[in-house]
Amino acid sequence: MPDAEISEVDIARLVPAFYARVRQDPVLGPIFDGAIHDWPEHLGKLQDFWSSVMLSSGRYKGQPMVAHVRQETHMTAGNFGRWLELWRETTEELLGPDKAQAFQAKADRIAESLQLGVQFHRNRRAA
Ligand code: HEM
Repeated sequence: MPDAEISEVDIARLVPAFYARVRQDPVLGPIFDGAIHDWPEHLGKLQDFWSSVMLSSGRYKGQPMVAHVRQETHMTAGNFGRWLELWRETTEELLGPDKAQAFQAKADRIAESLQLGVQFHRNRRAA
């Protein structure tokens, strides 16, 4: 039987569980804890982000590229790989396979575009 449709409840479970894992990660944890001073606010923002991405709710109004260019030194291929690995683990543990796959596919595409954007910024600065 296929999974039910993705809902706000899925996102509200997924986002805090993912960032709890990120904060325990020896490499990613200190990066996030150094940048984020209000975790409840960040989790709310990320729920809005995923709600906009997966459910087209339009709730997220931010600029992810700007936020990640600001964190440029941490935007390495290794860190993206680790981020995506933790995302895969969390989605697989909390959701059925179809939903997990849908969240993973979106994250893969967004990670790719963030990496390209950060690289573009680096090249332009070096030119
Ligand atoms: C190397 C991997 C990543 C690292 C180290 C990272 C790190 C961070 C940090 C430190 C912030 C807070 C920035 C600030 O407030 O100044 C942030 C914000 C954010 N990240 Fe990432 N991130 C990564 C990958 C991703 C990916 C793959 C996604 C989406 C699929 C994502 C989505 C977001 C969003 C939506 C925000 C909020 C931006 C805003 O302020 O509106 N990040 N990230």
